[in-house]
Amino acid sequence: MSNRYIVRQATERIEFGDFQTPYALALAVCQHLASNGTWPDLIIEPSCGLGTFVAAAAKTFPFARNIIAAEINREYVTHLNNALHALPRSERIDLQLRDYFQTDWAAELQRHSGHVLVLGNFPWVTNSTQGEIGGTNLPSKSNFLKLPGIDAITGKANFDISEWMLLDVIGWLATRDSTLAMLCKSAVARKVIAHAERKHAPLADASLTRIDAMRHFGASVDACLLIMRFSSSAPHAYDYTVYGDLGETSGTTMGSRLGLPVSDIPTFDANVHLIGNSPVRWRSGVKHDAVQVMEIQDRDGVMVNMQGEPADIEDTYLYPMVKGTDLNHGRVSNISRYMIVPQRSVGAPTAEIEYCAPKTWAYLSAHRTSLGDRKSSIYRTNPRFSVFGVGDYTFKPWKIAVSALHKQLSFQMVGPCKGKPVVFDDTVYFMGFDSYQEANIAYESLTSWPVLALLGSLMFRDEKRAIKAQVLNRVDWSRANLGGTLLRKADP
Ligand SMILES: C[S@@+](CC[C@H](N)C(=O)[O-])C[C@H]1O[C@@H](n2cnc3c(N)ncnc32)[C@H](O)[C@@H]1O
Repeated sequence: MSNRYIVRQATERIEFGDFQTPYALALAVCQHLASNGTWPDLIIEPSCGLGTFVAAAAKTFPFARNIIAAEINREYVTHLNNALHALPRSERIDLQLRDYFQTDWAAELQRHSGHVLVLGNFPWVTNSTQGEIGGTNLPSKSNFLKLPGIDAITGKANFDISEWMLLDVIGWLATRDSTLAMLCKSAVARKVIAHAERKHAPLADASLTRIDAMRHFGASVDACLLIMRFSSSAPHAYDYTVYGDLGETSGTTMGSRLGLPVSDIPTFDANVHLIGNSPVRWRSGVKHDAVQVMEIQDRDGVMVNMQGEPADIEDTYLYPMVKGTDLNHGRVSNISRYMIVPQRSVGAPTAEIEYCAPKTWAYLSAHRTSLGDRKSSIYRTNPRFSVFGVGDYTFKPWKIAVSALHKQLSFQMVGPCKGKPVVFDDTVYFMGFDSYQEANIAYESLTSWPVLALLGSLMFRDEKRAIKAQVLNRVDWSRANLGGTLLRKADP
C-alpha cells in the first residue's frame, strides 16, 4: 500500500474530517513542544490517521515510555502497523483500531503514570455537515452545546466535532499533569480555553500558534496549534498567548474577562467600565431566506424582483432596505432596494394581505412554491409567507446599523426613506430609535474612541462573524460621557 495516498471516498473523507498532517509539520510541532520543556512519559494520538504525529513523536521523545495511537479507519491502521518497525523503539507503540467516541479514555489513562501528552489533529467536520451527508461519526450527545432559541430551530446550532472531542479530552486529561497539543481551528481553540476556565480546569498555561492551513492542508481555514498545560500544583491561568508561527517568541495576550472572549486584554482592561447592557437592544434584521422573491429593486421606476421578474405590487408591505455591504461602505442614501415585510411581529397572521394588498398577495402566491420550499422548519409551522426577526423595533424610524458580515465597526445612522422606516436583512445588526435626537446621541456615544476601542478588543477578526450581537449588547455606550438618561427612555 502506498504511503500517504490511500484515498477515501469524498463523502467518507468529509464524514471523518480527514486531513492528514504532513510529516514536516508534525515534526515541527513535536520539536516545538520539546524545546518548550515537554517531556512526556505517555503520548496519546487519539485519531492518528496515517500516523505522522506518531512517527514524529517517536523520534522527538525517545524517553516516552508508551505511545498509544488510535484510529477508526482500518486501512490507515494497517498502513501504520506495517510502518511501525521503522520507528524508534517501536515496541512502546500500542496501535489500536478504535472509535474515539466508543473509547473509555479515562480508564486507558489510569493504566499509566507520569506526564501525559495528548497530541494530534482531530477530524475537521461540523455536526451540520454530518447531517447534510447523512454521516454518523458523531458523539452520542451531539447537542452538547444546548443552544437555545431561534438558532437551534434554524439549525445554526452548528459545532465542530473537534470542539466536542477537545472538551472531552479536557474532561479525562486535566486531572493529570499533562499537555494537550492539537491542531484545530483558532475559533475552536478559543472556545476550548474558555470552557476550561468556566470549568475551573487546572490550566497552568496555554497558547495558540497560527498554522498556515492552506500551505499544509490546502484548506482555507484559520488553524492553529493549541497547547494547554494542566498542572495540579501550578496556579490556574486562563489568559493565553497567540503567536504568529512556531518560531515566534513574543505574542499577543488574549483571554476572557467577565465571560467574554477578549482579543486584546490591555485595551479591554482600560475600558472595562463600559461593560454593562446596551441601553437599546441590538437586533438582527429580518430573516426571510428568499432573497429572490422578497427583495425588490427599483430599476428606473420599474419594480423587479431579484430574478429580474416584474413585481407589480402595492407599497403597503414594501420597505426600503439597506444591505450590509452598503452599510460597510457608508452607502445609506439613494436607496433602490426594497423588502416585502408581510408581518409586524413573528407569527402574525398573513391572510389579511389578500384584502389589504391584493397585488402583493397575488405576487406572493405566485411564488408560494419557492417560499414554501424554504429549508427551515420554522417556516412550515408559521403562517404562509412568514418572515422572522420582526417586531416593533423593525419599524422604528431611526436606526443605527452595522454589517454583521464585515470586520469593520462601520456604524451608520439610517433615517426614514420616502416616509418609511428602512429595514435590514439578517446580515445586519441594528438598534431602533423613535427620534433623530435619540439616535444621534447614541451614534455619538457609540462611535466615541473608548467604545470603539472596547468593541475592537472583543472582536476576533479571523471569525466569519467578527461582530456579534451578544458582544454589542454587553457594551453600555451611554457611559461614554453623553446623556444616558434620555437614551434609556428609548428602550421599549
Ligand atoms: C484531521 S485527520 C488527522 C489525522 C492525524 N491525526 C494527523 O494529524 O495526520 C482526522 C483523523 O481522525 C480519524 N477519525 C475520524 N473519526 C474518528 C473516530 N470517531 N475515532 C477515531 N478516529 C477518527 C480520521 O479517520 C482521520 O484519520
